[in-house]
Amino acid sequence: MMPVIYIPADSGAMALGAGRVARAFEEELFRRGIEAKFVRNGSRGLYFLEPMVEVETAAGRFAYGPVRAGDVPSLLDAGLLDGSDRHSLFLGETDKIPFLARQTRLTFARCGVIDPLSLDDYRAHGGLAGLEKAAALPPLEIVRIVTDSGLRGRGGAGFPTGIKWKTVHDAGADRKYIVCNADEGDSASFADRMIMEGDPFVLIEGMAIAAIATGAQKGFVYIRSEYPHAVAVMREAIRVATAGGVLGPSVLGSGHAFDIEVRVGAGAYVCGEETSLLNSLEGKRGVVRAKPPLPALEGLFGKPTVVNNVISLASVPIILDKGAAFYKDFGMGRSRGTIPIQIAGNVRRGGLFEAAFGLTLGEIVEDIAGGTASDRPIKAVQVGGPLGAYFPPALFDTPFDYEAFAAKDGLIGHAGITVFDDTADMLAMAKFAFSFCAIESCGKCTPCRIGAVRGAETLEKVEAGIRREENLALVAELCETMKFGSLCALGGFTPYPVMSAITHFPEDFAPRPRAEAAE
Ligand SMILES: Cc1cc2nc3c(=O)[nH]c(=O)nc-3n(C[C@H](O)[C@H](O)[C@H](O)COP(=O)(O)O)c2cc1C
Ligand code: SF4
Repeated sequence: MMPVIYIPADSGAMALGAGRVARAFEEELFRRGIEAKFVRNGSRGLYFLEPMVEVETAAGRFAYGPVRAGDVPSLLDAGLLDGSDRHSLFLGETDKIPFLARQTRLTFARCGVIDPLSLDDYRAHGGLAGLEKAAALPPLEIVRIVTDSGLRGRGGAGFPTGIKWKTVHDAGADRKYIVCNADEGDSASFADRMIMEGDPFVLIEGMAIAAIATGAQKGFVYIRSEYPHAVAVMREAIRVATAGGVLGPSVLGSGHAFDIEVRVGAGAYVCGEETSLLNSLEGKRGVVRAKPPLPALEGLFGKPTVVNNVISLASVPIILDKGAAFYKDFGMGRSRGTIPIQIAGNVRRGGLFEAAFGLTLGEIVEDIAGGTASDRPIKAVQVGGPLGAYFPPALFDTPFDYEAFAAKDGLIGHAGITVFDDTADMLAMAKFAFSFCAIESCGKCTPCRIGAVRGAETLEKVEAGIRREENLALVAELCETMKFGSLCALGGFTPYPVMSAITHFPEDFAPRPRAEAAE
C-alpha cells in the first residue's frame, strides 16, 4: 500500500511551519524515489504539537510532532513511513495521545482526520447521515429533535437553538434566511476557524438541516476578514457540495432548494453581534439594531432569519444522526452536549479540547493544559473572550456550565480561555477592557460610547493614586450603568472583566509604586 502522509493545512499549523514541512517531505521522498500520497488535513487541535505529521499504516495512524522541515530526513531514516517509534518526535497512535484520548469528540469527530474537501471522505466518516434523516422528516419534527437535544447557541448567549428555529419556522414570509456567524472575534477563540478549515461540510450540512427545518432557501456564512484560509476552504466546499447535490435546487434529492454564499466582514468586533452582522451583510455600517424586532422575525432584509454560530450549526448533524437523547446524555444541568474549549494564553498545552460540559476550570487549566508555559503560578483565567470575567484560582472549582459561571459573575461565551501567570497586572487588564470597548463600540448608545472612555480615564487616575477610593467607587457605579443601560452586550458585559479584576485582585488596585507591582 502506498504510504499516506497527513500534514495539516490549517492556518494555525501553517503559521508554525506546516507548509515548509510538506515541501520538505515532497522533496525528500522524490529524492529517495519513494511515492506517497499526501493529504492536507485540518488540525486535530493539538497546537502545542503542531506541525503534527501523521502516517497511515496497516496498524493505524501514528503521529510525530512538532515537526520542523529539518527533521524530515531523520524521520524518514527512522522509519516514519512504517509508523516506527525510533524517533524522538514519535507521539504514538494519534487517537491515544492523552490530550486527544481524554476528549469527547462529537462536533469535531472528523476534524483533522479527513481530507476537508473530499465529499467521499466526509461520507465515509459518517457525514450526511443527519441531513439524509432530516430530509425525510417533517420540518417541525427536526425542530423538536434540536429542541429536545438541549443544544444552546455556542456563540456566547447560550440561547436554545430549537426555540430560535421554531420562531423562524412559524413566521410567515416569502423568503427566510440562515445566517452563520463566523465572525469569531473573541480572544482565545479558534473553534469556528478550525472546523471551517478542517471539516467544512459539517457546517454546510448543519445549515442545510436548519434550512429544511425553517423553510429557508438561502444561507450566508459571514466570515471575518482575518480568516482568508477559512474563506477559501468554505467557498471551495460550497462549490463541491453544490456539484455533489448537497446544495442546490434539490438538497440530496429532497425537493428542498438551498444555496449558501460566503461573505467576508471588514474587521469589527461588534459585527459579531447578530444585528450588527445583519446590517453589515446588507452592505450597511455595522451598527447594532434595537430589539425587538428579533432577527428570527425581521432579520436579513427584514425577513425571518436564523442567526447561529458555526459550532451551533456544526453540532446539529450528529444530533439528527444519533438522536436528541444521545446528545442530551452528555453535559450537566441545563448545559447539554459537548463544548469545544479553546485553551490559549500562557499555557503549556494550548489547543482545542472538546468535552461534555461539567469539567472544572481547574481541571482544564492545571491538568489538561498543564499549567503555565512560563512555569510560574497561574494568577487569572479569562473565560469567554474580552468581555469575560477574570477568575482567580479560588474559583477553579467552577464547573464549565452556563449557569455555574453566571452564578459567579462570569460567562462561558464562546468557550475561549486565556491563562495569565502571576506577572499579570490586573489594573492594566481592567483598563484594557474599557479601552477595547471604547475602540470597538458601534457608538449607538451612550453608556458604552461615553462610558468606556470615561472608565479608562478613571482607572488611569486610580493607577496614578488620585482619589483612589472615590474613583474606584465611580468605576463600580459606571459599570452598573453600562451593565443595565447598554443596548448590546459589548457595553453590557465590559463590566465583567473590569469588576472581576477589582473584586478578585484588589491588591493590584492598592496604592503602591507600580514598579513593585511588577515584581
Ligand atoms: C459584541 C458582540 C460580539 C459577538 N461576537 C460573536 C461572534 O464573533 N460569533 C458569534 O457566533 N456570536 C457572537 N456574538 C453573539 C451573537 O450576537 C449571537 O448571539 C449569536 O450569533 C447567535 O448564535 P448562537 O445562538 O448559535 O450562539 C456576539 C455578541 C456581541 C454582543
Ligand atoms: S453597547 Fe456599545 S456596541 Fe452595543 S449598541 Fe451600545 S454603543 Fe453599540
